[in-house]
Amino acid sequence: MKIVVCENYEEMSKVGAGIIADLLKAKPDCILGLATGSTPVGMYKELTKMNKAGEITFKNVTSFNLDEYYPLAPTHDQSYRYFMNTNLFDNVDIDKANTNVPDGLAEDPAAMGEAYDAAIEAAGGIDLQVLGLGPNGHIAFNEPEEELYAGTHLTGLTESTIKANSRFFESIDDVPTQAVTMGIGSIMKAKKIIVLASGKGKHAVIEKIMSGRITTMCPGTLLLAHADVTLIVDKDAYEG
Ligand code: F6R
Repeated sequence: MKIVVCENYEEMSKVGAGIIADLLKAKPDCILGLATGSTPVGMYKELTKMNKAGEITFKNVTSFNLDEYYPLAPTHDQSYRYFMNTNLFDNVDIDKANTNVPDGLAEDPAAMGEAYDAAIEAAGGIDLQVLGLGPNGHIAFNEPEEELYAGTHLTGLTESTIKANSRFFESIDDVPTQAVTMGIGSIMKAKKIIVLASGKGKHAVIEKIMSGRITTMCPGTLLLAHADVTLIVDKDAYEG
């Protein structure tokens, strides 16, 4: 695992955007795996700037997002589809028909999950997956558990995640308690992974990953088993 330690959030965002921009230039029809949450917002802003300046184009890009709350409509202002539209897709030249987010209203989430993984495979697999880290070590919504799922699936959210994400909702009671999420296998099949982490709240997870030991009780540590992961952290996340 490669680790890039940045001075601050801004630099972390620029380094992440730079890696994506390099891929877009080398492979304009690449398949991107994208994340939501606070951490990648600055990186999406950087990418938007580069796109508007004509340095990069998303015209031929296909994207697959990691997860979506369940049940939640894509039009809901806290849905991850809405987040992606407002933070990236509406601001760059991507064809929205080529952007995919797991269906938060799927009647049969298991069938939807299988179809989602099959669609990723049919597209040729994810070239570059962007990940954030939950303060509890989750990746996507694969929460710390004794057993984890390989494929895209419906899952419950832990109390700590519901609490952490309640900052975006009017009240904690409005936070959905379930989500549909790519599984560990779906994520690990990506050819390259970048993980962004900023702030002291992520230090404990970074420390666990740096320990070199793997446990499903901290899903982020599973990334140690992937051949091409770059961890991009700011000083607060690195030093605590
Ligand atoms: C988002 C996702 C989550 C977040 C994680 C960190 O699509 O899958 O795993 O990456 O919860 O969230 P932030 O960036 O808000 O700290």
